[in-house]
Amino acid sequence: MMNFFKRKHSAEFSVPPEKLPAHVAVIMDGNGRWARRRGLPRTAGHAAGARVFRTITKHCEKRGVKVLTVYAFSTENWSRPAEEVSGIMRLLRDHLIESLADFKAENIKTRFIGDLSRLSRELTDLIAEAEAETANKTGMQLNIAVNYGGRDELVHAMRKIGREIQRGAVKPEEIGEKMIENHLYTAGQPDPDLILRPSGELRLSNYLIWQAAYAEMVFMDILWPDFTPEDMDEALRTYAARNRRFGGV
Ligand code: FPP
Repeated sequence: MMNFFKRKHSAEFSVPPEKLPAHVAVIMDGNGRWARRRGLPRTAGHAAGARVFRTITKHCEKRGVKVLTVYAFSTENWSRPAEEVSGIMRLLRDHLIESLADFKAENIKTRFIGDLSRLSRELTDLIAEAEAETANKTGMQLNIAVNYGGRDELVHAMRKIGREIQRGAVKPEEIGEKMIENHLYTAGQPDPDLILRPSGELRLSNYLIWQAAYAEMVFMDILWPDFTPEDMDEALRTYAARNRRFGGV
């Protein structure tokens, strides 16, 4: 019986591998509204969102996605109540501790993107450990964006290039798209093919603004804590049906 259902489920997902997005980027939005509707504190919404994040990460790997980037905390999120900020930081810490315990069983390579200098020492130590432990994994690349802002990422890239010019290693006329890409947090990774935002908001919110140049946007009217693997399959099918032209005809 069990096998019958499993086969039925995978037979329903018929997107051929070449039609799958190599890089999926997700804005995990709607945690606060989900909690409010249940009369719960916002942090309960983020905790539910963190559980969905783990389920969806495993599901994306199973579907053959090569890179998954999730937006966990933006450069603007510091303006939220202190309790909510520390709640999200605690969830990140718990996730890191859990994934470090599980890392032998998983084939996911983790990278944190964003300005990590503002995070606690405990968190940055755990991040360094998780990145080092998973560096040789061959499965999906997972990017967790923390204290991330697309404009802030570009500022950091400009500063790095500026320093290279200052020491005479680079000439201004040598700056090109490739050089800028190589100085972004996502250096060496493909641009997102699909940017997915649940919760009904129709904004990019400073997410991967350079990398999003040709991304397909999919917006879904579901709050992130309610998001299921079937919803992800629907987003992948929507993407597969799009006609990408990259400025051509
Ligand atoms: C946006 O919803 C969500 C966030 C700002 C935080 C996302 C964080 C997590 C899911 C938990 C930690 C992450 C990991 C990777 C373990 P919102 O609060 O803006 O929702 P609202 O628009 O309904 O208020």
